[in-house]
Amino acid sequence: MTTPSGAPHGHRHAASRLREILIGYQITQVLYVAARLNLADHLRKPMTATDLARATGADPDTLRFLLRILVGYGVFERGGDLYATNALGQLLESDRSDSLLPTVIATGKERYSSWGSLLRTVLTGRPAFVQDNGVELHDFYAAHPAAATPFNGAMAALTNSMVDNLIDAYDFALHTRVVEVGGGLGVFMAELLHRYPTLHGVILDLPHVIAEAAQELPPRILDERLTLISGDARQNVPENADLYLIKMVLCDFSDDEALKILRSVRKAIPDDGTLVIFDKIRTEIHDDEISRRTVMSALNLLVMTGGRERSENEYRHLLTRAGFKVVDVMGTEALDGEIHRVVAKPGEAVPLSSGE
Ligand SMILES: C[S@@+](CC[C@H](N)C(=O)[O-])C[C@H]1O[C@@H](n2cnc3c(N)ncnc32)[C@H](O)[C@@H]1O
Repeated sequence: MTTPSGAPHGHRHAASRLREILIGYQITQVLYVAARLNLADHLRKPMTATDLARATGADPDTLRFLLRILVGYGVFERGGDLYATNALGQLLESDRSDSLLPTVIATGKERYSSWGSLLRTVLTGRPAFVQDNGVELHDFYAAHPAAATPFNGAMAALTNSMVDNLIDAYDFALHTRVVEVGGGLGVFMAELLHRYPTLHGVILDLPHVIAEAAQELPPRILDERLTLISGDARQNVPENADLYLIKMVLCDFSDDEALKILRSVRKAIPDDGTLVIFDKIRTEIHDDEISRRTVMSALNLLVMTGGRERSENEYRHLLTRAGFKVVDVMGTEALDGEIHRVVAKPGEAVPLSSGE
C-alpha cells in the first residue's frame, strides 16, 4: 500500500523508527547536561523553569527545551508551570548510594567522545579512546583525577547494586586475609568486612583511586582491618593473603595485559591460596534486551580500553597460561546473571613463551 505522498506505509514506519534510533546521541547529551546541572537535586522541590534556570545558571529558554525533552522521556514531570522529580529523576540525585549521576557524567564525557570515533575501532580493532587521546583509559584518569571521579563513582554505584549477590556467591568464612586487586573505592571490600568481622582486607589500586578511596571509606575500617595500597597490579600485588579477589578488572584488559595482572597474583599467592574472579562471562543469552545490552557493553570495552568479555573457555585458557587451575565456575544473580564467579588455585607455573 502507498501513502498520498507515494511512500509505502511500511517504509514510513521503518524510516521513523530509524530516525528515533539515530537520535540516541542527543538523548545521551540531554541526560548528561541534566546531570551536570544537578537538576534532580534542585527538583526535589517543584520549581518553574525560570527559577531552575536561576538556580543552575542556565539560559531559561534553552533549559525549557531540555526539560520538555526530559519530561517527554519520563525523566521528571510537569504540572502546570512547575517541574518536579519522579522515580527516574530521583536516580540522578547526588547523595544516593545507587545514584546514576556519576554513570551519566562518565558516559556523557569520555565514553561519548570515544564512541564518536567508533569507526576507528571497527576498522582497526583498537580502542578509539587510546587512538584519540594517545594514552590508555586508566592512565588518562591518573593524569585527570577530576575526570576519574565520575568513573570511580559509576563503578561504586554498580558494585553497590550487586554486592550482596556477589558476597552470597562464595564462602568467605574460609579465609582470614583478602587482597582485592583493582578494588576501586572499596564498596565491595567495606561490605565484605562488615559481613565477616574477623576478615582483614587490602585494596590495591592506582594512586589516584586509592587517594579517593581513603576519603570515601569509613575511618574505623581503615584503622582496624583495611589497608589501602597504591600500585600497578601488572607489576606487583601484595603478598601474605590467603584470598585474592579480582572483580570487573580483567575485562578492561587485552589478554596480554590481563596476563600480567594474573602473573603478579600468581607470584604473590601462597601454594594453598585461592583466587576468586567476579566478571562478566560471555554466554549464549536469548533474552533479546539483555543480549543487546551485553553486546553493547562488550563493544564499549573494545572502544574504551581494548578489553574484552571472555567466554568460560577463554578464562580457563588465560588462567592456565598464568599458572592457575580453575576449580569452579558458577553464575551469580548479579546484573541479571551476567556476572560469574571463577575460583582458581595455583597450579603448575607455566614457562613464558618467547615474546611474553
Ligand atoms: C572497572 S573498574 C572496577 C573497580 C572495582 N573492582 C569494582 O568492581 O567496582 C577497574 C579498576 O581497576 C583499576 N586498575 C586499572 N588498572 C590498574 C592497574 N594497572 N593496577 C591496579 N589497579 C588498576 C582501576 O583504577 C579501577 O578501579
